[in-house]
Order: sequence, then C-alpha cells, then structure tokens
Amino acid sequence: MKLQNNDACASILHRRGVTHGQVSIDEPCHRPGECIPSYDEIRKCWQTAFPVHLPGLLLPEVEKYASAIRDALHIMRRVRAGESCADILVEAPFLSRLEPDFDLLSPVHTGDKQEVEKIVFDAVKSGELFAEDLWMKVSRLSFVDEDDSIRFRFSYGMEMFKNQEDDPLREGLAAELAARVFPECNIVCDSELLIEILKNTLNFSPVFVERIIYSNAPSGGAQFHQDVENDHFGIVYAQLYGITAWLALPRAVLLQHVQDYLRDDGSDIFSELRQTAQHEGHLVNLLESDDQGALEILLNATPAFTHRLIDAGYGLTLAPGDVLLLPQATNEHCCWHSVFCLDDAPGHSLSFAMTRMP
Ligand SMILES: [Fe+2]
Repeated sequence: MKLQNNDACASILHRRGVTHGQVSIDEPCHRPGECIPSYDEIRKCWQTAFPVHLPGLLLPEVEKYASAIRDALHIMRRVRAGESCADILVEAPFLSRLEPDFDLLSPVHTGDKQEVEKIVFDAVKSGELFAEDLWMKVSRLSFVDEDDSIRFRFSYGMEMFKNQEDDPLREGLAAELAARVFPECNIVCDSELLIEILKNTLNFSPVFVERIIYSNAPSGGAQFHQDVENDHFGIVYAQLYGITAWLALPRAVLLQHVQDYLRDDGSDIFSELRQTAQHEGHLVNLLESDDQGALEILLNATPAFTHRLIDAGYGLTLAPGDVLLLPQATNEHCCWHSVFCLDDAPGHSLSFAMTRMP
C-alpha cells in the first residue's frame, strides 16, 4: 500500500471521522499459491513479530463457499437494519445448520455498551444436554454514528475472566458453533496449503479458537491494538469479501516510530506525551493501558503519523482470498495492527486465534 496524491484510482483512508489520505490498493493475486513468500521468509517474519501477508491463498475456498458468504452478508445486512440475530437464526436455512446439536436459548443482556445481542446456546448429544453456556455475541466496533462495523464473536463461559476458564471441550464446541452459523469458517481448515504453512511456521498444527467474524464498514475498522492471550500464538485473518487496509508492525518498531514522530513534531497537543515518551517504560505502560489519552489520538487519528508508517512500509491491503498472519506470542513480541475499510459497502472476514491441541 502506497500513499497517492490526487490519483483517480486511489482509495480514501477514512475512519471514524478522520481522513488519513489516499492510498493505492496492492495488486490482487489471481493465482492461488503463486504470490506467497517462501517458507523461510514466512518463518522469519513470524519469529520477529512482523505480519505475514499471503495474497490470494484462499481464492479457491472463497469460491467454494460463495453461497455461505452470501448468506452471511444477508445476516449482517439484517442485523444492521435492527433485526434480532436470534430471530434470524431460527429461520431457514440457519436453524437446520444448528439442529439437533445446538439449542438456541433466549438472548441475554450483559450491560456491555458495544453489545448488540448476546445469544447463548446449549450443546446437545443424543437428546441430552452435553455442554452449556456457549455463546455468540454481536457487537458494534465503535460508538461513532457513521461507523456501521460489527463483529460476531463465538466463545464460552465467563467473558471478562477468560484466563480463569480452561475447558478445551467447550472451546472446541464454540468453534464448531461458529462454523454452523457461518459455514465459511471451514475455509481456513479446508486449505491444505494454509495448514501446511502454519505447521511449518509454528512447528505444530494449530486449532482455531475464539472465532470472530468481522464486517468492517465504510468509515469504520479497528484502532491500533494487539490480541495477546494466554496459550494463543497468534491470529489468522482471512478476507472473504471487500477490501481492507492495514497498518501492522511489531510493538518495538511501533514504539520507535512514536518516539521519532514526537521528537520531530512540535504540536502542543502532544507536549505531555512527548515527556512520557522519553522514558520507554512509561510509553510501553501507556500503550498497553486501557486509557491511552493523547497516544490514542497519535496512533489512530493523526494522518501524519499514518503517512509515516505507510512510507516506512507498514501498510498493506487485503482483497478476498488474502490471508494475514499476526504473531501474538507475548506483549513484548507481538504485531500491533490497525484496520480501515476501503470499500463503499461492508465486508466480511474471519479472525481466529491459533492455539495448540491440549
Ligand atoms: Fe486484532
């Protein structure tokens, strides 16, 4: 991805009320498997917490699941229009995907302000209750009116105290539930080439848990964040519909760019942050905190900082069939990332955490 000035073919990088500039979209790959880096390059990126871009890798699978992707876009459209997702899932063809193995219970309300709806399921085996408190949660990605981005997250048990949960059976059932509602989740497991690349990179064959289906909408996306969690090694992200733009880089490199930017920039709004950034430990604490203050503005709403990262080569675009691997081993060794929607309509993508079979 490169910055473009006044180019008719350029796409506008705009998120939550801030226009960051115009960019060119990376040339899409039309030949699956031919545009990917060597296994050595992939391993090197992964081990140094850089993102791994695998263009066009899943094109055959995206074609194979075209009808399921259309169904998902239909669900997303109806949820955005204000319909209850639980009501949609008891209609054909969705109910038959769940029955007889998953019982949909009444939606619950958790008080989470970004939550649209949380639907709880029981798993059933031979007519008997097998596991309970599996859930899918529909959330908005921001509180900004112009941002219609939503996500569907599948998990189980206590949401706020995930570290206290260790139940591989229910973790596996929540992953299965995601594939029942959105059969295109199987795209990731179906691709022999992707599984081979992951085995070679991780030295084991991962299982895909904490499944999230993202629908990034125009003016939306995700602010800079990391996804480090206990026993997770990283994220596999697959673009199925629409185009997204990303900034993705290791934490240490991001911190260096923040410090360099603040040293060169003289604006008053960052004067306090400039002081904080002189002490690397304090800057790290601020980056990892829930209230980043002026750092949040610098990272997410400062076009000049976005330009700096793109010029340094940390921007990329994803088209349908593209995969992005994001190493997330530890807070120190992880790839921070930020997402923009480049389309004039909402997209569809998968984001799964990778863990090892217990
Ligand atoms: Fe993420």
